[in-house]
Amino acid sequence: MTRAVISGSGLWHPEEFITNEELVASYNAYAERFNRENAEAIAAGTVKECLLSSPEFIVKASGIRQRYTYRRDGILDLDRMRPRLEERADDELSHQAEMAVRAARDAMQRAERTAADIDTVIVACAYTERAYPAIAIEVQEELGIKGYGFDMLAACSAATFALQRACDAVLAGSSRCVLVINPELVTPQVNFRDRDGHFIFGDVSTAMIVEREDMCVSPHRYRILGTSATTIYSNNVRSNFGHLAYATDADPFGPDKLFCQNGRRVFKEVCPLTVEHLENQLQRMDIAVADVRRWWLHQANINMNQLIVRRLLGREATPDEAPVVLDEFANTASAGSVIAFHRFHEDLQSGDIGVLCSFGAGYSVGSLVVRRL
Ligand code: COA
Repeated sequence: MTRAVISGSGLWHPEEFITNEELVASYNAYAERFNRENAEAIAAGTVKECLLSSPEFIVKASGIRQRYTYRRDGILDLDRMRPRLEERADDELSHQAEMAVRAARDAMQRAERTAADIDTVIVACAYTERAYPAIAIEVQEELGIKGYGFDMLAACSAATFALQRACDAVLAGSSRCVLVINPELVTPQVNFRDRDGHFIFGDVSTAMIVEREDMCVSPHRYRILGTSATTIYSNNVRSNFGHLAYATDADPFGPDKLFCQNGRRVFKEVCPLTVEHLENQLQRMDIAVADVRRWWLHQANINMNQLIVRRLLGREATPDEAPVVLDEFANTASAGSVIAFHRFHEDLQSGDIGVLCSFGAGYSVGSLVVRRL
C-alpha cells in the first residue's frame, strides 16, 4: 500500500522587518496629518476622524510584535505607505519565484532530495503576482525539475490545501515526489492607512516535500495519516483586486482592492468552525484529541489559537503543545502553520502525532494529521 510522508520543510524570510513601534509611529503621523488637513469636515461630521493606533493594542489583540517585509522601503513613508518594488523584466526571475526558490532549496536539502527526484511543483499562496505563466513553472525551470507545476490560490488555507493535493497525487500514484511552496508576498496588499489592519501581515516563504514513504530517505519523516478540508462562503475577509478592473473602470487600487476584513466576525465565526472541523476529523480517524502531541496551527491571531486549542483540549495549551510564531512573523497568510511545523518538529519522538491546520478567508479550514516515523 502506498503511503505519503512529509520528508522536509523549508523557510526563507526577508532580512528586513518592521516593529510595531515603527509601524504605529508612521500610521499615527499619517492619521494626525489626515485629521489636521480634514479638521473642518471632521468637525462638520462629513469626514470620519482617523483614530490612533498603539503597539500595546497590537500585541494584546494579535500577539504580533514585528513583521518581516520583502521591501521595507516605502511602507513607513507617509506619502507612499506601501512597499516599493522594482518591476522585473520578463527574462528576470520574478519576485515570488525568487522567494519560492529559496524556501524550496531549504526543504529539498532537509528532505535530501534533488531536482531529479521531484516530479510535481505546486506554488500555493494567497496572491500570485501574475496570472500566467504559473510561478510554479518558473520555479520548476529555475530548479531544473522535470514533470509539471501549477499555481493554486486558497488564501490562508493555500498551504494545507496544496499539501492535501500533494498527498492525494502521491497516494493515487500520479506523482512520486511533490514540492509545495508558499511564497507569501502579502505586504503589497496591506492597507497601511487602515488602523484595523495595518499591523496584521508579514512576508515569508515556506516549502514542504511530500513523497512516497517507501522512497523517502529523510531522517525526519511524518506519515500523513489523513487530510481534511472545509469551505464555507463568507465576505468577512475579502480582496476585490482582479483582472476585471480594466473593464469595469473601477479604481484598481481603491481600498476594497486591498485586504479588507471584519476581524471581529472572522474571529467569532472561524474559531468554532475550526474546532468542529478538527474534532470531526480526529473522530473519523479514531484519534483522541488528548493523543495529539503538537498543534501546528495557522498564525493569524494568538487569541484565536488559544481559544481553538482550549476548546479542543478543555484546558490551556502550553507553547510546547501549540507553538506560536506570530510575535516574530505576524500573519503570513497560508505559510503560518508551515513555519510553526518547520521551527518545532525535530524534538518529536517516533509515534508522536501532530496536526497541521490552517483557517481563514473563504472561509476555509485545511488540516493534516501526521505521525512521526
Ligand atoms: N490601535 C488601538 N486600538 C485599536 C486598533 C489599533 N490599531 N484597532 C482597533 N482598536 C480599538 C477599537 O476601536 C476598539 O475600541 P472600542 O472598544 O473603544 O470600540 C478596540 O480596540 C477593540 O477593537 P476590535 O476590533 O474589537 O479588536 P479585536 O480584539 O477584535 O482585535 C483583530 C482585532 C483584527 C486583531 C482581531 O479581531 C482578529 O485578529 N480577528 C481575526 C482576524 C483574522 O484572523 N483574519 C484572517 C486573515 S486571513
